[in-house]
Amino acid sequence: MQLTDRLNRIQISPTAAVIAAAEQLKAKGVDIADFGPGEPDFPTPDHIKKAGIRAIEENKSKYTATPGIMPLREAICVWHKRELHSNYEPKECIVNVGGKHSIFNVVCSLVQTGDEVIIPAPYWVSFPDIVKYAGGTPVYVSTKAEDGFSVKAAQIEKVITPKTKMVIINSPSNPSGAVVPPDEYERILALCKKQKIWLMGDECYSHFTYDPHKPFSIASAQDSKEHVIIIGSMSKTFAMTGWRVGYTLAPEKLIQAVTKMQSQSTSNPTSIAQYAALEAMRGTMETVPLMLAEYTKRRKRIVEGLRAIPGVTCEWPGGAFYAFPNISAHLGDGPSAFAKTCTELSRLLLEKAHVAVVPGEAFGAPGFLRISYATSIERIDEGLRRLNRFFSRAEAAA
Ligand SMILES: Cc1ncc(COP(=O)(O)O)c(C=O)c1O
Repeated sequence: MQLTDRLNRIQISPTAAVIAAAEQLKAKGVDIADFGPGEPDFPTPDHIKKAGIRAIEENKSKYTATPGIMPLREAICVWHKRELHSNYEPKECIVNVGGKHSIFNVVCSLVQTGDEVIIPAPYWVSFPDIVKYAGGTPVYVSTKAEDGFSVKAAQIEKVITPKTKMVIINSPSNPSGAVVPPDEYERILALCKKQKIWLMGDECYSHFTYDPHKPFSIASAQDSKEHVIIIGSMSKTFAMTGWRVGYTLAPEKLIQAVTKMQSQSTSNPTSIAQYAALEAMRGTMETVPLMLAEYTKRRKRIVEGLRAIPGVTCEWPGGAFYAFPNISAHLGDGPSAFAKTCTELSRLLLEKAHVAVVPGEAFGAPGFLRISYATSIERIDEGLRRLNRFFSRAEAAA
């Protein structure tokens, strides 16, 4: 079959591939300690579910305006102002079919052949492929584990060229949990302003930060609006991954461009999901600190557990719900190595230890594994036991 060049430039999401392999084994009755999923294991809070049910019962099942119902656009601006100190109006807001869709729409509206987009690595798997699909070239900036994988303005400055169109900052980060501190983020903004480059801030994990970090939006910085694009999502903060609601906050002209694109693709996000999202924005936030408290406990358990495994090092993630251990001591040809690459090691872990993880190569970080701790303490303990057994056996055999 002759497929388009733009489709041939991208690959199916590697995280989806891991989930599929784990699901296949689960279907055969194998008990998998699953550190794969990039989504909260908590249910959507009741008040949000009820709003969705009410919307169905009240027949709110018609097309809506392409950029979303006005009350939701208003509520997102109010919520973002209250929680993250921005100052947007509804005409600067569009509701999309999840944050990934927001990023896709924005990148396809602004990036074309010949443009470069700066992406700190490790990166979320979809950033490079969306840029490539749009015809652009991703330019990676490597961050270091000892810096908590947090990118610095000086590193970004070094790779800016006349072709640079955009910098993407995802803080807290999937997969590393890195948080860019506000002062460094503002230095990155200053750089983007000076060079007339767009700064896209992916805030999907904004409310899952651990001490001493706090939720932060670069949209709270003075005179940021003309250069900043904010990507937000209901998925993680409100455990609403399946509802598919995200949003973009940006200058009005860009919102109009994205609306045009959305009008010829998905049209509006699902009407009933919009009413559920409206409740998420207007209703109680009491479930958020409860989830954060649980993630905090799990983070401690997983990081300490990983650090106790021979040959494994692991930084404390500043946010999100992923640990990103370095397992490179177990790769290559050395005495304690038993796989050449993380991808190979992940396959072995799944098949032999029945533990699902995502290999670092997927995120531009060979030598690392992404371990999602969006799973119960009991499953974390079980997974750690299996990892310990697996790596200790490998050590013994070495
Ligand atoms: C960094 C990051 N951005 C955006 C998204 C998109 O989330 P959604 O499309 O569910 O809103 C994800 C989902 O995993 C993510 O990890």
